Amino acid sequence: MIKYILLFILCLLVTPVCGQPIANNEELWLDDNGQHINCHGGNILYLPDGKYYWYGEHRVEHIPGTSEDGISLYTSKDLKTWHYEGLVLEAVKDMTSDITLGCIMERPKVVYNVRTKKYVMIFHLELRGKGYSAARTGFAVADNPKGPFRFLRSVRPNAGKWPADFKRKDKKAASDLRPEAYKEWWTPQWYQAVSKGLFLKRDLKKGQMSRDMAVYIDDDGKAYHLYSSEENLTLHLAELTNDYLHYTGKYWRIAPGGQNEAPVIFKRNGTYWLIASGCTGWAPNKARLFKASQITGPWEQLECPARGKGADKTFGGQGTYAMPDPQRPGEFIFMADVWTPKQLSHSRHLWIPVTFENGSPVLRQ
Ligand code: GAL
Repeated sequence: MIKYILLFILCLLVTPVCGQPIANNEELWLDDNGQHINCHGGNILYLPDGKYYWYGEHRVEHIPGTSEDGISLYTSKDLKTWHYEGLVLEAVKDMTSDITLGCIMERPKVVYNVRTKKYVMIFHLELRGKGYSAARTGFAVADNPKGPFRFLRSVRPNAGKWPADFKRKDKKAASDLRPEAYKEWWTPQWYQAVSKGLFLKRDLKKGQMSRDMAVYIDDDGKAYHLYSSEENLTLHLAELTNDYLHYTGKYWRIAPGGQNEAPVIFKRNGTYWLIASGCTGWAPNKARLFKASQITGPWEQLECPARGKGADKTFGGQGTYAMPDPQRPGEFIFMADVWTPKQLSHSRHLWIPVTFENGSPVLRQ
């Protein structure tokens, strides 16, 4: 009985109230089986069967470090009561696979491709035993939203390609940079070199680094993969092929040298908005806001969108997805993770309805 009363109180807690957080950053959020929702860094799809599909990292205690056993799926009819559907993509025992147990699969995003009628999952992959140095993108596909997803491959994006807007002089400027002149990081000269493409050039042959990420499907059905690249210093927005399973080779840099991660992107009344975090690992920091009239840029940086107590640290959270708000058509809910690195499976969920003040998105808790 007590369990049901607690569940009822929790349901009240997560009832959306405009401008108030939906999920709060302190409580565990229990599924219909009484377990905390173990689904982090992910996204939510609303499908024609009237259900929400929440995909995310399934963190487990029996695997040490930051690796996990796969990507979990929870479903719900009302965004409050969630049912665990199991792992839709599992890490495997086969040691020759890129997703062998011990690898790190982070920030999975699942999208539906209307052309191919497939569900595509794109995620940040780190290879077993290599820490965070591999910086790859994983692709998986399924016929059904409940999976199982078939792992296709992992890659370093856009090998051999310069950014789409790089002119001959930009390529020359990047090519002329001598790495030995910039051994010391964080100096003004080093920042300038990073911005010109110090790491871009370094990784040109083997492909660009790709860590924290988002996927965005525009109104014309075109898909973009947005990820922290160049040692987490610069975001890249890369165009995907029509099946969403490859890169076209066209990409654009956002805020070179700006050190942005955890990108969350959405479009409202024709304007693209991007909320990102700084780079402080699992610790929260102050959110950054960018705006553009075309997805490929230029992106303009504005003031931090968070307001009120705890705003300097994004209320303890780090963004993962902007979910269309079912209660306010055309508006969004900012979904964030409140990481608890000592026990990542218990990382909390923080959902804040995005409101607009003076034409800019605002997050208030
Ligand atoms: C964070 C990132 C997380 C995870 C973590 C590892 O900055 O957003 O997804 O990669 O670093 O320390």
